[in-house]
Amino acid sequence: MAFPLMILTLIFLQPAPVLAAPSLPSNNGTDLAALLEFKAQLSDPIGILGQNWTTATSFCHWVGVSCSRRRQRVTALVLPGMPLQGLVSPYLGNLSFLHVLNLTNTNLTGSIPPDIGRLSRLVVLDLGLNGLSGIIPRTIGNLTKLNSLVLVKNDLSGKIPHDLHNLGNLRHIQLGTNYLSGIIPNQLFNNTPLLVGLGFGNNSLSGPIPPGIASCPMLEYLNLQANQLSGPVPPTIFNMSKLQIMSLVGN
Ligand SMILES: *[C@@H]1O[C@H](CO)[C@@H](O)[C@H](O)[C@H]1NC(C)=O
Ligand SMILES: *[C@@H]1O[C@H](CO)[C@@H](O)[C@H](O)[C@H]1NC(C)=O
Ligand SMILES: *[C@@H]1O[C@H](CO)[C@@H](O)[C@H](O)[C@H]1NC(C)=O
Ligand SMILES: *[C@@H]1O[C@H](CO)[C@@H](O)[C@H](O)[C@H]1NC(C)=O
Ligand SMILES: *[C@@H]1O[C@H](CO)[C@@H](O)[C@H](O)[C@H]1NC(C)=O
Ligand SMILES: *[C@@H]1O[C@H](CO)[C@@H](O)[C@H](O)[C@H]1NC(C)=O
Ligand SMILES: *[C@@H]1O[C@H](CO)[C@@H](O)[C@H](O)[C@H]1NC(C)=O
Ligand SMILES: *[C@@H]1O[C@H](CO)[C@@H](O)[C@H](O)[C@H]1NC(C)=O
Repeated sequence: MAFPLMILTLIFLQPAPVLAAPSLPSNNGTDLAALLEFKAQLSDPIGILGQNWTTATSFCHWVGVSCSRRRQRVTALVLPGMPLQGLVSPYLGNLSFLHVLNLTNTNLTGSIPPDIGRLSRLVVLDLGLNGLSGIIPRTIGNLTKLNSLVLVKNDLSGKIPHDLHNLGNLRHIQLGTNYLSGIIPNQLFNNTPLLVGLGFGNNSLSGPIPPGIASCPMLEYLNLQANQLSGPVPPTIFNMSKLQIMSLVGN
């Protein structure tokens, strides 16, 4: 009886590593291709990436790139204040282990690629202080782990996508100083119990101040100034015990 039992054991032990390999969605070769495509879209006038982002070293040692120790996958791309100048490559959407994307104040132009919505592990997305135009892609609503969404001071237009109501872990949403128009969707606040800061100031938003804001018990900072909002201030806002700063001026 021992012989067939041993074969059975072998059958159950063997397939595990064989099955594990194809179940990986992508590998670090995809990460490398994504980073090189990102670099290729930038003019990099003072050579921040030029001499550094070369295949002579592992991309995990490139300036602004952090990797997970075990799998050597890109977990953070952080280059704040570096004049990169150029477009945001849609290939960034392939960095499937990315947790932090911070490209604030890097002179980026063009639109935000909807591919960003594939970064399902993303916790921080900061593309603020750039020259990005076009709409806020609806796919950002797929980033359910997102904690901070910062798109402040760009040239973004169109409406605030109601898809953002999926972002149940959101703590900070800063969309101020853009050209956003339309109403502030009330359902945005259906599922954001952790929201601490909201900045929508200096846009062209119209319609009422959404009463749903009062269902964010942690809210400390509310900036809706310099828009075209109208109607009453929902009385429930005055019951928000954590609120410290509220600006509604210029509506
Ligand atoms: C790239 O920059 C990082 C951080 O400054 C540095 O540690 C690394 O040695 C540089 N690599 C090359 C090839 O210059
Ligand atoms: C990619 O992963 C392999 C093992 O899976 C590792 O040997 C290699 O160093 C990694 N490459 C980079 C650039 O991190
Ligand atoms: C990466 O992303 C781009 C654009 O989103 C896509 O065309 C490409 O096929 C993706 N895959 C790889 C392996 O680079
Ligand atoms: C992005 O980086 C800048 C500079 O380090 C920092 O001030 C900012 O808070 C970061 N953004 C987020 C959302 O953490
Ligand atoms: C941003 O890029 C434009 C060209 O697209 C350039 O004229 C301008 O000086 C850059 N600004 C900064 C702060 O680097
Ligand atoms: C991402 O968002 C878009 C638009 O909101 C939606 O159509 C799509 O199904 C979503 N994809 C995933 C993988 O959730
Ligand atoms: C409001 O937006 C205008 C034009 O986009 C800009 O010049 C101004 O600095 C912004 N104000 C604030 C307080 O950010
Ligand atoms: C504010 O809270 C108090 C006590 O919980 C409640 O009685 C009152 O109805 C609330 N007011 C509004 C406008 O929601």
